[in-house]
Parts: sequence; structure tokens; C-alpha cells
Amino acid sequence: MKKYIYLFVSNLLLFFIFPIIRLLNKSFYEKNILPKLINFTCNSRPIDYQRRKVIPDATGKVLEIGIGPGSNLKHYDNEKVSKIIGVDPSKELNTIAKKRADSKELDIEFLIESASNLSVDSESIDTVVSTYALCSIPEPNKTLQEIKRVLKKNGVFIFSEHGLSPDKSVSFIQNSTDFFYPKIAGGCHTNRNIKELLIENGFNLLEMNNIYLPGTQKFLGYNYWGKATV
Ligand SMILES: C[S@@+](CC[C@H](N)C(=O)[O-])C[C@H]1O[C@@H](n2cnc3c(N)ncnc32)[C@H](O)[C@@H]1O
Repeated sequence: MKKYIYLFVSNLLLFFIFPIIRLLNKSFYEKNILPKLINFTCNSRPIDYQRRKVIPDATGKVLEIGIGPGSNLKHYDNEKVSKIIGVDPSKELNTIAKKRADSKELDIEFLIESASNLSVDSESIDTVVSTYALCSIPEPNKTLQEIKRVLKKNGVFIFSEHGLSPDKSVSFIQNSTDFFYPKIAGGCHTNRNIKELLIENGFNLLEMNNIYLPGTQKFLGYNYWGKATV
């Protein structure tokens, strides 16, 4: 019963209430509702469970692209990480991330810029991290090329992303909602094939796992996580 109430309320918000508010006042929606929506969904239990599978493996100098509200910060291993550079163009989400960073004993620098045009030196990073960001970054191919540029030769790209489902009924919903869903969800495309993007951009996959995240709607919850090298 609880599951159906959750589905009803989330569909009402996603397909009705949020689109109407955004239609009426785009800047109000993007400044006041969207950052809270991202912070809320990114801190849900199934997503946090995924973070715990990947983030503790980050080592050395880390670059986190699309760091958003800083939800991964609590999962980094202080003993393994020497510095974190968090990149995100959203000032509103950066304010939330900075509050999270204050409570951590980690050397963290924030860059308010796009991951597709990084001001980070080439071959200077040990681990690049991306969680639920490749869906929202407007130029995923350019971003993956930037990740390759900044990673050291033996560096690792660690990711946990949602994207295109292999099931036709789910990918049909993902493809047919793509004309409006990114507008209410900060540019998030649910239909990006993360595995193909990585291969097309010349990454070597060390690990690639997939599941539907429990407790999430299938069109949002098809998850890819793993590690890749350049
Ligand atoms: C769904 S949120 C995920 C946030 C965070 N990675 C997490 O795991 O909670 C998507 C993030 O991508 C960021 N983003 C959008 N365009 C971007 C770009 N061009 N470069 C870097 N980040 C971007 C958004 O600001 C947002 O913080």
C-alpha cells in the first residue's frame, strides 16, 4: 500500500505539479524548487546504498564531476583521499555542498564550472568520480573526453549512474518522456546508455554492474555502476 501511495504522489509531482510550476515561473522553479528536489532525491536510501558501493574506492587526488549537493562526501575514506575537487555549475547546490564539506576533515576545493570544459591540469587526477551526473551534463561526450584528459595514466574513473534500460517497455517510457522530463529535472535525461557512452569514448571497462534500484520507478532507476580506465 505504502509503495502505491509513493508512486501516486511521485507521479503527480513529476508529471503534473512540477511541470505546471515550471511553466508558470521558470526562474522560481529553478532557484527554489529544483535544488531541493535534487538534494531530496539524491539522498534517498537506494541511491545512498549505491554510493557506498563505489565512493570508498576513490584514492589520491579526486575530481568529482557534477558534485551537486555533496552527497558523496560522507562516503570518502579520509585515509585514502588526499584532496577532492568538486565541479558543478550550480551555485545553489554548491551552497548545500559547502555546508556538508564543513563537517568533513577533507581538503575540498569547489569549482563552479562545467565538467565539459575543466580548468584542471591534464594527467593530474588519480580518481574521477561521477554519480548521477552524466545524465544531466549537456555534453556527455565532451565531458568523458575531459575526464580522459585529466586522469593520470593509471587513474580510475568510478561511476554510478542511471540510464537507458535494456527492457523495451521501460526504454519506451524513457525515450517518450525525454521531451519534457529534462526540463523539470535539471537537464536529467533518463535514456542515456552509460555503457555505450564509455565504450564510444575509449574507456576500458574494469567493472560494469546493472540493476533496477529497489523502491524507485523503473524509468528512473536503471542503474549502471563500476570502474573504468583510460
Ligand atoms: C542529479 S544531480 C547529481 C548530483 C550528485 N552528483 C549526486 O550524486 O548527488 C546532477 C548534477 O549534475 C550537475 N550538472 C549539470 N550540468 C553540469 C555540467 N555541465 N558540469 C558539471 N555538472 C553539471 C547539476 O548541477 C547537478 O548537481
